[in-house]
Amino acid sequence: MHPRFINALRRLIHHSVPFHSADATLSEIDPGGRPAESSANSGHPKESVHVPVMPAEILKLGEPGPGQYWIDGTAGGGGHSQLIAERIGEQGRLLAIDRDPAAVERLRPLLPENVRVEQASYHEIPKMLERLEWPLVDGILLDLGLSSDQLGDAERGFSFQTQGHLDMRFDPTRGKPVSEWLRYADEKTIADTIYEYGEERFSRRIARRIVEQRRLSPIETAEQLKEIIYRSIPGGRRSSRGGLRHGRVDPATRTFQALRIFINDELKILRSALEKLPNHLRVGGKLLILSFHSLEDRIVKHHLREDLRLEVVTKKPLSAGEQEVHDNPRSRSAKLRVARRAANG
Ligand SMILES: C[S@@+](CC[C@H](N)C(=O)[O-])C[C@H]1O[C@@H](n2cnc3c(N)ncnc32)[C@H](O)[C@@H]1O
Repeated sequence: MHPRFINALRRLIHHSVPFHSADATLSEIDPGGRPAESSANSGHPKESVHVPVMPAEILKLGEPGPGQYWIDGTAGGGGHSQLIAERIGEQGRLLAIDRDPAAVERLRPLLPENVRVEQASYHEIPKMLERLEWPLVDGILLDLGLSSDQLGDAERGFSFQTQGHLDMRFDPTRGKPVSEWLRYADEKTIADTIYEYGEERFSRRIARRIVEQRRLSPIETAEQLKEIIYRSIPGGRRSSRGGLRHGRVDPATRTFQALRIFINDELKILRSALEKLPNHLRVGGKLLILSFHSLEDRIVKHHLREDLRLEVVTKKPLSAGEQEVHDNPRSRSAKLRVARRAANG
């Protein structure tokens, strides 16, 4: 295992993390965080700085064991994949997928031979399993959202504390960056998007300012967008001068979240995967999903409850224990839901 995980995992696993249930609230991981250095401008991929969330709970409820077949649909920095790979051993097989080519490049040297690393979206898993001629699998993990590596990469535009290009695509080889969409989308569509995916009540004001601003010059950077949001929201100016009270969510958080979800079509992909993935689990096989905001969690909750192929294992979602939240603040809004393939499903 990579040394960067060892201390965190020791604390989390050996100090027996208590399980907490939690109600869903809107609290996305803060795109203002500064967890990682930029990996841009370097010739080869930097090490991942992402710390896997709720590893002890995932191992306990997923129970990966020797010789099993597993899929990590959002392998990111490879933390969960490494843990699963250790548990399934050399005889086991793991398919580690990420939509982000930069993450895939970082993952390959990190993971052992029996792990197949692929650049794809997790809703394409059925197609991949067919191609690989895999049997039904023992477990599938989805750790939704973005990694600390992506958040910290100034060139990707995910964080409003960076000054890079406002792109926000997980896979920059497909689709269009947020900056381009903001150039031509009409005001109402922008407002509706910010409201629907960010639950931002000042969405109309923000959209109006975006349209006013782009008449003067195109909105190309995360910093430009942040300034527009601050100017549109009551109290936003205070944040721009560093006056945000401790513990308050930065006013730019919801809009950045909304645009990221929209440009990557995240909720549609999640729904599509939830429809298909249970067919690929063996009876008793586990589906584990970590979500970080209420829009995702609501979708996961309803699908798991209503799917006759599945039995819900976590009646209420689990959240990270105090120690983990202290050590890894990103875990604070995580909710883990687990279901298993039913015998008669
Ligand atoms: C929270 S991180 C995962 C971190 C990982 N579990 C670890 O331990 O390092 C989420 C990852 O999911 C990826 N991702 C987002 N949407 C995806 C999709 N539709 N298919 C595959 N990967 C996706 C992102 O690129 C990001 O690397």
